[in-house]
Amino acid sequence: MNKQTELSKIAEEIERCELCKTWGIGKAVPGEGNPDAEIMFIGEAPGKDEAKTGRPFIGRSGKFLRAVIREICLNEEDVYITSPVKYLPQKGTPIRENIVHSRIHLSKQLSVIDPKILVLLGSVACIAVLDQAFPITKEHGKVINRDGKIYLITYHPAAGLRFPETKERFIDDFKKLKKLIRSQSAASR
Ligand code: URA
Repeated sequence: MNKQTELSKIAEEIERCELCKTWGIGKAVPGEGNPDAEIMFIGEAPGKDEAKTGRPFIGRSGKFLRAVIREICLNEEDVYITSPVKYLPQKGTPIRENIVHSRIHLSKQLSVIDPKILVLLGSVACIAVLDQAFPITKEHGKVINRDGKIYLITYHPAAGLRFPETKERFIDDFKKLKKLIRSQSAASR
């Protein structure tokens, strides 16, 4: 089975997942991008725009995220964008139980895509992927090497839109990401 077919199968599982639906509303938002992506961006949970369309990060914070991705000369078509929680949470922010359950779907996506660099956009992404709650204000920009993968911790783009200082730090973290990508591709040559 090729990677795209495997990802479509996981997306169908998410669409059928009754437990996910007990916490969420609207369409399932499995994620989108290149099945062979070396860089994966992981957010928190879909918002209203995403729940209407089934596409990740297409609202205000998504437009900002995608613009900063392009600013560091990455093609949106080359990366994969998703969120740990696959449905718009009924209560706005996902509860821990929901985040923990969503790992089932996310970890399947991770094992198919097998990215080299994972950009963790905020604390929910850190809890979902690393099972660790990082104080983002203090730890943003941190790079963690674990089990052959590189994790970059940064803010959720919504925080960058809310506070001008955070926006600057978010953009600085993406500049760091650009350097990280360059050093990775130099090392693999
Ligand atoms: N915020 C997220 O974390 N994910 C989305 O898909 C949209 C907004």
